[in-house]
Amino acid sequence: MCGIIGILGKSDTTPKLVSALKRLEYRGYDSAGIALIGAEGMDIRRATGKLAELEAVLEAAPVSGLCGIGHTRWATHGAPTKANAHPHRAGPVAVVHNGIIENFRPLREELIAKGRVFLSETDSEVVAQLCADFLEQGLSPEAAVAASLARFEGAFALAYLFEGEDDLMIAARRGSPLAIGHGEGEMYIGSDAMALSGVTDRITYLDEGDWAVLHRNSYQVFDALGNPVNRPETKVNLEAMAVDKGNHRHFMTKEIFEQPSVMALALSRYLSPDHGAVHIPEGAPDFSRFDRLVLVACGTAFYACHVAKYWFEQIARIPVEIDVASEFRYRAPPIGPRDAVILVSQSGETADTLAALRYVKGKAGQVIAIINAPESSIAREADLALPIKAGVEVSVASSKAFTCQLAVFAVLAILAARQRGELDEQGEKSLIDKLVSVPRLMDEALKAEPAMIDAARELAKARDILFLGRGPLYPLALEGALKLKELSYIHAEGYASGELKHGPIALIDDLVPVICFAPVDALFDKTVSNMQEVMARGGKVLLVSDATGIKRAADGTWAQIEMPNCDPFIAPIVYAIPAQLLAYHTATEKGTDVDQPRNLAKSVTVE
Ligand code: M6R
Repeated sequence: MCGIIGILGKSDTTPKLVSALKRLEYRGYDSAGIALIGAEGMDIRRATGKLAELEAVLEAAPVSGLCGIGHTRWATHGAPTKANAHPHRAGPVAVVHNGIIENFRPLREELIAKGRVFLSETDSEVVAQLCADFLEQGLSPEAAVAASLARFEGAFALAYLFEGEDDLMIAARRGSPLAIGHGEGEMYIGSDAMALSGVTDRITYLDEGDWAVLHRNSYQVFDALGNPVNRPETKVNLEAMAVDKGNHRHFMTKEIFEQPSVMALALSRYLSPDHGAVHIPEGAPDFSRFDRLVLVACGTAFYACHVAKYWFEQIARIPVEIDVASEFRYRAPPIGPRDAVILVSQSGETADTLAALRYVKGKAGQVIAIINAPESSIAREADLALPIKAGVEVSVASSKAFTCQLAVFAVLAILAARQRGELDEQGEKSLIDKLVSVPRLMDEALKAEPAMIDAARELAKARDILFLGRGPLYPLALEGALKLKELSYIHAEGYASGELKHGPIALIDDLVPVICFAPVDALFDKTVSNMQEVMARGGKVLLVSDATGIKRAADGTWAQIEMPNCDPFIAPIVYAIPAQLLAYHTATEKGTDVDQPRNLAKSVTVE
């Protein structure tokens, strides 16, 4: 999940490459680099760490050129060193790569045996070396790339630059996304529309297996078999891609505090104007023709599926299976025409989720995607794509995408219940009323921030933290733990409250805070008993509940955070706010890099 950019420009491309890399930094920030064809030939600049380091290198040793490629890296093969930073050069070829060349070892050995000298530990360098080898055999750049692509196994988005050719760039994709951008007498390639949003709004997405030969004033796309093909040009909404932090210190808080408004937007998109019924603008799936739903995703999006399982089963009485995409895709699960499969992804590019989609396509009765990026691979390949309308999410840790995924799931559960005869018109209206109150309740939940800041001061001192929840709040415990881990680097685990006594309770002592998500619902008293078990062993409980819950169960707890009273149906959406803000404030207390936590990337396009 690296980011790549390529520009065939009319003026010096260095500043444009750097600004495109800034927009791609969410894909990885272990190192960055650019290669340009200038008056003196090909020049490369690379630096480890964030883009600011590359900017410093460029200031000390400027380069210029009319065409260039750039890369921001999330390391897979080889440590984040300068030698492993892209672009990789072999003879006259420079290459940037996103993905993994799985058979790079035998290819590398083959090329070393031929006398080629490798300078990095990456899988990517083999792309440049193999191309250079074919060029030495007398092939043209186009033929050398075509011959190379036939040798690769794995996933890639590639951009090639050739010394002595300042009006040529070659791009290829298999498994990783890539788009061509069209300018006036300029041509671009980029990992996504966001990368290109600074230079153009005219985009041609490459299909799986495509490769393309680009000149400033023309281009030709070829399919995987080498046949010339036409791919449509689309116009992207640049305004929707404009992002800044507003008055916030981090994108993360901006995105957390945006939730009431984006939630209102997401909900209104899927409700009739009078808010009396569910309305799916793309055409409603017919849940009455399915015997089972299979929900698949990764990370936070998977926890959204986990909450949705409770909703679909309880409200629509339809069996639901959930799995993380990295397991699902390899366990060859039986899928048939009476299954609907729902894939969930903020980016719409997560490699495992995309592979899961491709596995079920043609087997399932319907393949539905819940996505934030409407032009993404997952959106384009699903039978039905339902946008969550969260707007661009920049912070690596997902927040508003999660709650908007829940919003879409909630309306689908109501729809399914209606279609399956489990809910009458009145019942539908009553659940919708509850959903419509969510933005207001989220707003109220955000007002509890001061109590969360106080709690976070203590949490920041802990080495381990546990999260507990029951029913649909159990996935929230998992999400709270994930958020805390990725933002603050404190070890955290989420458990179903009733599961604690089956082992994890051994961890409890006065140094391990236990955060309990416990709205007053049918299972409240059981959760309180589990809390008592923790406190009886010296555990420090932070109770997150409504006023009634706090009145009934605060005795003996270390701290309390008061949430608004809300119906159990919508509680998992509202309780996402403390899950996110506790992690955020613990991280700022510790001084970690909130928007770009170590080792992570926003879009995970490798397996
Ligand atoms: O783009 P996706 O929704 O497919 O991404 C899935 C996960 O990689 C993502 O949710 C990840 O877990 C986040 N960093 C969580 O905050």
